[in-house]
Amino acid sequence: MRRAAKSGGRRVRSRYVRESEVHSSFIVMPEMANPLGTLFGGALMAEVDKAAGMCAHRHARRPVVTASIEHLDFISPVKVGWFVSLHARMRYAARTSMEVGVTVTAEEPDSGRCWNPCNAVLTFVAMDRDRPAPIPELLPLTDEERARHAEASERYAARRRGRP
Ligand SMILES: CC(C)(COP(=O)(O)OP(=O)(O)OC[C@H]1O[C@@H](n2cnc3c(N)ncnc32)[C@H](O)[C@@H]1OP(=O)(O)O)[C@@H](O)C(=O)NCCC(=O)NCCS
Repeated sequence: MRRAAKSGGRRVRSRYVRESEVHSSFIVMPEMANPLGTLFGGALMAEVDKAAGMCAHRHARRPVVTASIEHLDFISPVKVGWFVSLHARMRYAARTSMEVGVTVTAEEPDSGRCWNPCNAVLTFVAMDRDRPAPIPELLPLTDEERARHAEASERYAARRRGRP
């Protein structure tokens, strides 16, 4: 069941993971390549940050800033002309910060062969002008969503413990 809490005069309701999911795609153009003729890592990072940021903004329904990248693994190269799809999903929402996971799929366009060249996990903070602002609680439904939620919750708690 959805819950709603009062926060700073604004009603903040809970949201499901599916309500903020983002799917985006692009073709690797020559100007996105490194000297080896494969996708430049920084160009892929920008696409990952955009997809994850849209997902976080959808969950918070407020502007967000990237606070940290927990990890970003480049598993295999992607060639110019290949198709790249990104799937961004909320993993955890704390008070003003939230963790988003991004799965990247590459597709060789002539054969249709697909594989996973990159995964990333990022944290965003929702902002009200220049200050962190409260966000809706996240309601994980599936076993996978609950497992991701528990892992992210532990990471959040560990990071908070490490803060001065
Ligand atoms: C992210 C930012 C808003 C946090 O500000 P702050 O003064 O540390 O705010 P607070 O201490 O109140 O923390 C706010 C939230 O951010 C989280 N946070 C702060 N620094 C973080 C970090 N490095 N990684 C993950 N979360 C972080 C806190 O845990 C807290 O989460 P919670 O409210 O859910 O518990 C601030 O550091 C900032 O503006 N950074 C620049 C962001 C930016 O420009 N990004 C684009 C660069 S490419």
